[in-house]
Amino acid sequence: MGVLAGRTALVTGASRGIGRGIAERLGRDGARVAVHYGRNGGAARETVAAIEAAGGSAFAIRADLRAPGAAEALWEEFDRHADGVDVLVNNAGIGNTRPIAEIGEEEYDAVFAVNVKAPFFILAHGMERLRDHGRVVNISSGLARTAVMPDNMAYAMTKGALDVLSRDLSKVLGARGITVNSVAPGIVDTDNTAELLHGSADGWDRAAAFSALGGVGAPAEIADVVAFLASHEGRWVTGSWVDATGGSLT
Ligand SMILES: NC(=O)c1ccc[n+]([C@@H]2O[C@H](COP(=O)([O-])OP(=O)(O)OC[C@H]3O[C@@H](n4cnc5c(N)ncnc54)[C@H](OP(=O)(O)O)[C@@H]3O)[C@@H](O)[C@H]2O)c1
Repeated sequence: MGVLAGRTALVTGASRGIGRGIAERLGRDGARVAVHYGRNGGAARETVAAIEAAGGSAFAIRADLRAPGAAEALWEEFDRHADGVDVLVNNAGIGNTRPIAEIGEEEYDAVFAVNVKAPFFILAHGMERLRDHGRVVNISSGLARTAVMPDNMAYAMTKGALDVLSRDLSKVLGARGITVNSVAPGIVDTDNTAELLHGSADGWDRAAAFSALGGVGAPAEIADVVAFLASHEGRWVTGSWVDATGGSLT
């Protein structure tokens, strides 16, 4: 029996990339997984199918996290399938690479809406659905702690804000035995980084050179860290910022 048997997990942005890796891992660990998505219903159904093919249980829920009222819409969908959540992973996010002098307000608002406002209100409206001794994991970024790519400033700022949410919420939820942590990937091979990694002949090698381990991350590597925090073994880790960059900040 998996270590999360009998638990329910919700992973935002689980149709693709890191979120999909996390959803599949939590499903293998025995959790029933809510696979949230925005636009790609077909990809979300593929995640659900992969979890079921591995012997797990999952369902897909849709909510556009850029839209006003997104968090309420997400929980309304969730409530049709489950009556509480044990592991909540705020993973959905969008990147933004543009020099500060060129970024417009609309673009700035979009990256903050998806990366900060949505997780904040998903948690604000999710408190009553989170079960005692549950887990919250917010997917941050190594860029919150390094200026190595300053054209990603607005994006990095969103992750800095998310990290404050993890830290402060750990104090609010600690009395209920709920842990709250940030997990910060470095460069991971997903659609989000396709241009960076595959858009030029040396993209992959330049990205790999950031990491002490000399590689580019895979969604499964981030999922393993999340799985630890979600497990019983992770019960004494809270309010933390977990570096999952493969040593890109050393
Ligand atoms: N890849 C990296 O190198 C890297 C590094 C550090 C941190 N991260 C963080 O890791 C997380 C996942 O990144 P990724 O690389 O896996 O991204 P990705 O492959 O681009 O996938 C993004 C996911 O977020 C969902 N999403 C995006 N905008 C949405 C919206 N408006 N409403 C609802 N869902 C939305 C997408 O759903 P749909 O496709 O269904 O719309 C998709 O499932 C993000 O928070 C990102 O900042 C990534």
